[in-house]
Amino acid sequence: MRIMRILNYLVVFIFTSAYISAAEPDDSLKSAFAKRFDIGVAIPGTNLKDSEKALLLKHFSTITSENSMKPQSLHPDEGRYEFGSSDALVEMARSNGITVNGHTLIWHSQCPNWFFTDNGKPAERELVLKRMREHIAGVAGHYAGKVASWDVVNEAIDDGREYLRKSKWLTSIGEDFIAEAFIAARLADPKADLIYNDYGIELGGKREKALRVIRDLKKRNAPITGVGIQGHWALDRVPFKAIEDAIIAFHAEGLKVSITELDIDVVPRSSFGADISTREKGSDDPYANGLPADIQKRLADQYAQLFALFLKHSDKMSRVTFWGLHDGRSWLNGFPRRRTNHPMLFDRSLQPKPALDAVLGAAKQHE
Ligand code: G3I
Repeated sequence: MRIMRILNYLVVFIFTSAYISAAEPDDSLKSAFAKRFDIGVAIPGTNLKDSEKALLLKHFSTITSENSMKPQSLHPDEGRYEFGSSDALVEMARSNGITVNGHTLIWHSQCPNWFFTDNGKPAERELVLKRMREHIAGVAGHYAGKVASWDVVNEAIDDGREYLRKSKWLTSIGEDFIAEAFIAARLADPKADLIYNDYGIELGGKREKALRVIRDLKKRNAPITGVGIQGHWALDRVPFKAIEDAIIAFHAEGLKVSITELDIDVVPRSSFGADISTREKGSDDPYANGLPADIQKRLADQYAQLFALFLKHSDKMSRVTFWGLHDGRSWLNGFPRRRTNHPMLFDRSLQPKPALDAVLGAAKQHE
C-alpha cells in the first residue's frame, strides 16, 4: 500500500516537473552556470521592489551586501554593533536558499576613525590590533555558519609604486595586519572561505603584489582560501589576457578565484580602477537617453568574451558576482561623477539587455 502511494507521488512529481519545464524553460543565469561556478549579485539591502526581488531570485544563487557589512555600517562605535539590516539580508538569503558573501571585514574606506584613535591621539599598534581582532570576532563570529565567504581584507595593495596602500591599518599595525586579519577570521568562523579582494590585481604590477601578499600570508600560516578579482572593467578596455593570466597565477598558489564585483563601465571617463576617492569634474552625460545600439552590441560581445574565459578556467573558479542588480542600481551612476550608466545585464526597467543573451549563449556553447 505504502509503496503504491510512493509510486503515485513519483508519477505525479515527474509529470508536474515535465509540465513546468515545458511551460517555463529555465533561462536563468544561475542554471546556465550551475555546473561551473556560482552566479552572484551585490544588493543594497532587503528593501527591494517585488520585481527586483523576483529578478534576484530567478538569476542569482548568491548575494553580497553592497554596503551593510562594512565596518562603518556594522560597528559605528567601539563595542556597538548594528546588525539589523545585515541580519535581514542574511535571513532573506537563508529563506530563499541562496548563500551570502560577507563584504568586508577590513578596508581602509568606510571604516570609522575610533579604530585608530586613543584619547584624540593616534592609537598604538597593540590597541588597533586588539580592536581589529575584536571587530572580526564580533562580526565573523555573529555570522559564523551563515555566510559562505568573507572578503577578509579589501584593497590593501597600493595603486602606485609602493607595495601596500598607506592605510591607517598599515600605518598603525604594520604589514602583518593582513595576516592577523585572516587568522582572526578563521578563529571566528571555522568554515567560511577567506578571501583577499582587490581591483586591478589582474594587471602586471598589482598582480605581482597580490602574489606577494598571498605568499606572505602562507609564510605566516594565515588561512587564506581565495582571491577576489573585483572586475570593475571598462568597455573596449577589458584586459582579457591579463585576466586569464591572473586566474592561472592565483590558482597556481592553491587558491580559488572569484570575480567578486563585475561590471563594465560604458561611459568614457579619464580615471581607471575603483578607488572611490578618485572623483571627476564635469557634467557630461552622453547616454542619458539610452545606450546606442552599437555600444549595446560591444557590451554584449565583451561580456560574452569574459564568460567564455571564465568557462575555460571554471575548474579554477568558484563564483562570479555582478556589482549591482540592474543599470539603475549600479554605483557607476555616481562614480567618478554623476552619469547615466549602463554597465549591467539588465536595464533600468529590469529588462534583459543583449548582454544577457550573449552571456547565456556563451554558457550554451561550452555545455
Ligand atoms: O547611506 C548614506 C545615506 O544615508 C546618505 O544620504 C547618502 C548621501 O550620499 O550616502 C549614503 O551612503 C552612501 C553608500 O554608498 C550607500 O548608498 C555613500 O555615500 C557612498 O559612498 C557609498 O558608496 C559605496 C562605496 O562602495 C563606498 O562604500 C557604493 O555604494 C558601493 O558600490 C561601493 O562598493 C565598492 C566595494 O565596497 C569595494 N570595491 C569597489 C566598490 C565600488 O566602489
